[in-house]
Amino acid sequence: MSEQSAQEGILDFLAVPVLRVEEGTGQVLSANAAARALPFSLEAPAPGSVLDETGALLPPERFPVRRAARGEPLEGALFRWKTSQGDRFLVVHSRMDRSCSPAVATVSFQDVTQWRRAEEDLLRALGARDTFLAVASHELKSPLTTLQLVLERLQRGARRDVGFSGAQVAERLEPALRQVRRLGVLMQNLLDVSRARNNRFDLERERFELGSLVREVCEHFTEQARQAGSALTLEDCPHVQVHWDRMRVEQALTNLVTNAIKYGAGGPIAVRAELRGGVVLLQVVDRGVGVAPDDHERIFNPFERASSGHRGVSLGLGLYIVREIARAHEGSVELTARDGGGSCFTLRLPREAEEEGYE
Ligand SMILES: Nc1ncnc2c1ncn2[C@@H]1O[C@H](COP(=O)(O)OP(=O)(O)OP(=O)(O)O)[C@@H](O)[C@H]1O
Ligand SMILES: [Mg+2]
Repeated sequence: MSEQSAQEGILDFLAVPVLRVEEGTGQVLSANAAARALPFSLEAPAPGSVLDETGALLPPERFPVRRAARGEPLEGALFRWKTSQGDRFLVVHSRMDRSCSPAVATVSFQDVTQWRRAEEDLLRALGARDTFLAVASHELKSPLTTLQLVLERLQRGARRDVGFSGAQVAERLEPALRQVRRLGVLMQNLLDVSRARNNRFDLERERFELGSLVREVCEHFTEQARQAGSALTLEDCPHVQVHWDRMRVEQALTNLVTNAIKYGAGGPIAVRAELRGGVVLLQVVDRGVGVAPDDHERIFNPFERASSGHRGVSLGLGLYIVREIARAHEGSVELTARDGGGSCFTLRLPREAEEEGYE
């Protein structure tokens, strides 16, 4: 066996794609098995398909193999390859061997796409958390300000002994109570997030009739929906007994319905339930702004919000809590775009716990 074919045998063994190219011409003398298996070209990518670390498009003479063939050493330079299966990030090393004539450059391409994506996800999650902290502190502060104003006014009145009637006191306390309820919801959501993160979403299952829960939630939100211009209708609901944590499922359905009101752009909102096999499908459908397909998965993560144009309270926790409640019930939640605009959220929950004694 010649030394060259022995070397090529060793290169074939490597998981990292490696090319050996002739100095000057850039002609590929050999490509190891990993390089041959790639579904895109390393040596002659299409013009406009390779970018540098900063995201700038490279002209063909700056493509890594051309640079290596000119004798420019590449020491871990990062490139972004546009391929038909999405972008790939490659770290390129090259070395010129001048012991033979013509000289030969060995170029390796390490695929770091996975790490790069993980890094991007991490940075986005950190960014989302920072935004959350800013929004949450603002959200915690504004009810407190209202509360303080109301109480101070009452205190001033009491000091001056103006003699408020019971009805006047009750009326003045109303905005304070609204803010306390708002604070309560906020604190509950924060508590639930930390519970879910520590896998401590303990369920208290009970048997009850599905319709009673669904009707209750719909009736509770009919007025709020009407104020937002939306007609909220319960379309279908089978008569079926379920074995769930009633409070938690109510909370999940509430989060979906309040989202539909918030992001439903005043269009009609439909709630329906269906039994398929042993699984209940609970659907909330709106005709609002919808969610871009790229955001369908992301919005279920904590603190994540899509650009939906809504300007009210929005912490990005509701759907995360829905997903964790679904998981705790061995179910799932998913978003599908509604034909003609809007969103359809489907909560799938097995009627019964899978194993006996699950609770
Ligand atoms: N029905 C919907 N239509 C359009 N966008 C939606 C809908 N439901 C949720 N979204 C998008 O998903 C994001 C995440 O929703 P989620 O309920 O988790 O948080 P939120 O509504 O922003 O805040 P909160 O913590 O108060 O629920 C929202 O910010 C919004 O961009
Ligand atoms: Mg929400």
